[in-house]
Amino acid sequence: MPSSVIDALKAHYQQLSQLTLLDLFKQNPQRAKDFTLESEGIYFDFSKNNINEQTLELLLNFAKQQNLAAKIQAMFNGEKINNTENRAVLHTALRSNKESILVDGHNVMPEIKAVRAQMAEFCRKIHSGEHLGYTGKKIATIVNIGIGGSDLGPVLICQALKPYRVAGMNIHFISSVDGYMLNDILADVDPETTLFVVASKTFTTQETMINAHSTRSWFLDKTANNTAAIAKHFIALSTNTQAVEAFGIARENMFAFWDFVGGRYSSWSAIGLSIALYIGYDNFDQFLSGARVMDEHFSQTADLRKNLPVILGLIGVWYNNFYDYHSLIISPYNTRLTRFPAYIQQLEMESNGKSVNKAGEPLDYATCPVVWGDSGINGQHAYYQLLHQGTQVVPMDIIVAASDKFSNKEHNDILWSNAIAQAEAFMTGKSYETAKAELLAQGVVQESASEIAKHKVFSGNRPSNMIILPEINPHYLGMLIALYEHKVFVQGVIWDINTFDQMGVELGKALAKKVLQDIESRQISEHDGSTVAIIQHYLNQTTQNKLKS
Ligand code: F6P
Repeated sequence: MPSSVIDALKAHYQQLSQLTLLDLFKQNPQRAKDFTLESEGIYFDFSKNNINEQTLELLLNFAKQQNLAAKIQAMFNGEKINNTENRAVLHTALRSNKESILVDGHNVMPEIKAVRAQMAEFCRKIHSGEHLGYTGKKIATIVNIGIGGSDLGPVLICQALKPYRVAGMNIHFISSVDGYMLNDILADVDPETTLFVVASKTFTTQETMINAHSTRSWFLDKTANNTAAIAKHFIALSTNTQAVEAFGIARENMFAFWDFVGGRYSSWSAIGLSIALYIGYDNFDQFLSGARVMDEHFSQTADLRKNLPVILGLIGVWYNNFYDYHSLIISPYNTRLTRFPAYIQQLEMESNGKSVNKAGEPLDYATCPVVWGDSGINGQHAYYQLLHQGTQVVPMDIIVAASDKFSNKEHNDILWSNAIAQAEAFMTGKSYETAKAELLAQGVVQESASEIAKHKVFSGNRPSNMIILPEINPHYLGMLIALYEHKVFVQGVIWDINTFDQMGVELGKALAKKVLQDIESRQISEHDGSTVAIIQHYLNQTTQNKLKS
């Protein structure tokens, strides 16, 4: 990394960290306005951050030195920026209306549009009743079998857009490999009216494959071994035609996508079919067009000071690499976005949790922070204690919808007042003197007030972003997700890492196969002492359980 830029940022940090957020507001009465961006309906207030105009100038300079603008264009143009897998990165093409985007001289847009048309047509057939179950009943339940990017996006989006669902349609998700999840859901669904969607980019993922096989066995069991019925009740979303056919799903029941779509970036692809079946293809199309609006904003806002994903990403870098804040909390204040933190967790941590640069050289700086969170209002009654008074500072992204026609005003006002108040409290804190004065005013005696006040101090100066959507509908949800996708891209460029591979998931998968072999053969192969002892314990337990039953 260019050391002059880093040195300038370090020197700036030394000065700026002497000032609190409240100092910064005193210095600039226009601060709320100066540090707010509005684009296509999204309102992004980043004024409650430990930054000033010089910080942004230096960070933008950093981005310039890392060739961010050119790299954004390289991604949109289909260059092979996923260097370790020699792949283009074109989730943006999935929501594009362009006629042509070339990868290796091949135009990928016709096949993308063909799959979109195939998805729309399939939705029409299911919703109109043209495609019926094997006994002639209408499909009323979707079961999505997938994990990671083949689960988290559809789960989030279906939860967030439940009020838009096609009348009478239900959806369930099977992701975990423990048989409970599968058995629990299968106990509730009717084989005559259920469509099973096997969603797996690779179609080799252990959890998804075992769940798909077990579901098929259950289905055959329930239908007196009616193998012909499988074609009406099982479809596949994948890049791996061969494996789909080997599983027994015909090519015409497969919806394809391509290796230029990463799993965690795949909700816009055929992986989105469960979503489209649930909310209707027109709403899915709105979701794509929302993301397209954010793509246009990101790729065409040449003044990066006004570019939402760029600013969101750079603020994250500022905390991670200069303030040493290595945790980020995502706090949506809306029940429909409860799964948003889990989705962003995969997006950020699987993309940027790396410790070598694009050339494979070890890094001497921090990359992705730990990203976590849950519903903000619930978090207030659980872990916000640490966020207010704990020893570490955790920057927060608060996400709210300006209006929610599926809520009601009284409740929404309370929700909003909490979101706003929390951001204020994190920033302003409470001094010892104020805490003590409050106790005295309540009639607490001097001596006790002096002691108890020590526990009631809030250091404040804790930063937050506030992202306000006009409402949670398909369009704005598409924009919000694309905002974070591009934020992650920006940070990957700054940190000079390959955001688009995920080799860190492989070691555990390989070892799980070896351990499974040991368990099945009851012969423990070579492992460390602790692992051997645990496998032995499991084998002993299962033997005892067998003897008992
Ligand atoms: O193990 C991680 C991962 O490969 C993710 O990147 C991906 O989203 C998930 O597994 C599921 O993969 P697939 O869609 O190929 O089943």
